[in-house]
Amino acid sequence: MKFAHDFLFGAATASYQIEGATDVDGKGPTNWDEFVKIPGKTFEGTTGEVAIDHYHRYKEDIKLMAEMGLESYRFSISWARIIPDGVGAINPKGIEFYNNIIDECLKYGIVPFVTLYHWDLPLCLEKDGGWLNRKTIDAFLNYANVCFESFGDRVKHFITFNETVIFCGHGYLAGAHPPGIHNAPEKYFQATHHVFTAHAKAVIAYKKRKQYGEIGLSHVFTPAFSIDNSEDNLFAAMHANQFNLNWFYDPILKGEYPDYVMAWLETQGIQPKITADDRESLIIAAPLNDFIGLNYYQPMRVERIHMPGDVVEPTRENATGAPGNPSFDGVYRTVAMDDKRYTKWGWEISPDGFVSGLQLLKEYYGDIRIYITENGLGDEDPIIDGEVCDIPRINFINDHLVAVKKAIELGVNVKGYYAWSAIDLLSWLNGFKKQYGFIYVDHDNGLARKKKASYYWYQKVIETRGSNL
Ligand code: BG6
Repeated sequence: MKFAHDFLFGAATASYQIEGATDVDGKGPTNWDEFVKIPGKTFEGTTGEVAIDHYHRYKEDIKLMAEMGLESYRFSISWARIIPDGVGAINPKGIEFYNNIIDECLKYGIVPFVTLYHWDLPLCLEKDGGWLNRKTIDAFLNYANVCFESFGDRVKHFITFNETVIFCGHGYLAGAHPPGIHNAPEKYFQATHHVFTAHAKAVIAYKKRKQYGEIGLSHVFTPAFSIDNSEDNLFAAMHANQFNLNWFYDPILKGEYPDYVMAWLETQGIQPKITADDRESLIIAAPLNDFIGLNYYQPMRVERIHMPGDVVEPTRENATGAPGNPSFDGVYRTVAMDDKRYTKWGWEISPDGFVSGLQLLKEYYGDIRIYITENGLGDEDPIIDGEVCDIPRINFINDHLVAVKKAIELGVNVKGYYAWSAIDLLSWLNGFKKQYGFIYVDHDNGLARKKKASYYWYQKVIETRGSNL
């Protein structure tokens, strides 16, 4: 089977991870610019100051993407480049930079797929309470409107937020992302609610403009499966999916929170404060969402435990939920299983889990349009005779594209696939040790770019619309 002609083959990045130039041309500071200064937070103290200097090399990078045959490029806008203090004046240089990126993509016929928020919050807003402060909802709406106004004539695909569970979970439960707060579930649920409300308001505002594009949000997709058929562990998987899937998709797609989670929050006395206006926004926005983006890296294998809630701050090697940690409520724990395969960072490799997860999602939410907005292998790529031989990445993406094909055949409405990442970039916590890209960046040689084996392989996949998979 070939992928349909309107299925987009893409690749993705995020502003903080590639741009550098953190205080250039009027950009304001962000929560991440500040957070990485805390000793021990990132691998070898890496910061985004230079990253891979995409700010100055975007033409070279987009040219390489075009040569690879990329049909769509997902990138994020740095809020603080557009509105340096989060709420005040617009920085014309910031607008100019993203206009250049967009125009450069269009020059090559690459469809720009824009994320408005990929974790870098203007520092002034973070200092003012960040996502716990309701004012951030209005600030985001204002920023989103500036982006729609400035770029919406050419950008027809907007993602409001990337992975709420990660920036809120790491921010308020694990303490591994800004604002670095540990074990505060009440704050975590309140912050997620503010994000969903900000999303809803932005969706409504976008649709009012009649720019005739599509808008949605991306979530990290970690479907939970029980390690066996015991009643206890099946319960653990149900519970994990309620908290990690339904909590994040129900308010977006149904305009209401899952009863199961709400009831649990009530027993703990930590339900988020939801105003009548928030509720109304969620309800109005729900049917206006055009798609959901899924970032799939791995599923979760879970077993039931009974212990008081506490979240262990993840190590850098275990940053995004690899096995080993109890859930914050002490109800289940993620487990590494002998019969599964894992990456060097302990993330399970499971194309089958991807297919089953997509089917589960279809059961919950019907035929909603889906883009796979991230999927890829973090690895230390081998260099042999000067060539980057990232064969494990080829195998990984191959197997996951086959899984997408299978899901489409089973009736799941997947419209595009964005590999993470287009080019090697800065991993939030793992620095440059972990690579994901089709394009290698040589840090010992002035950040020179080089095509990897996977670059030529993906070029072929796109050329043949996946018929060689
Ligand atoms: C996703 C993020 O969660 O995972 C990306 O959206 C991130 O920004 C990717 O880089 C991989 O995570 P890590 O920790 O391996 O860099």
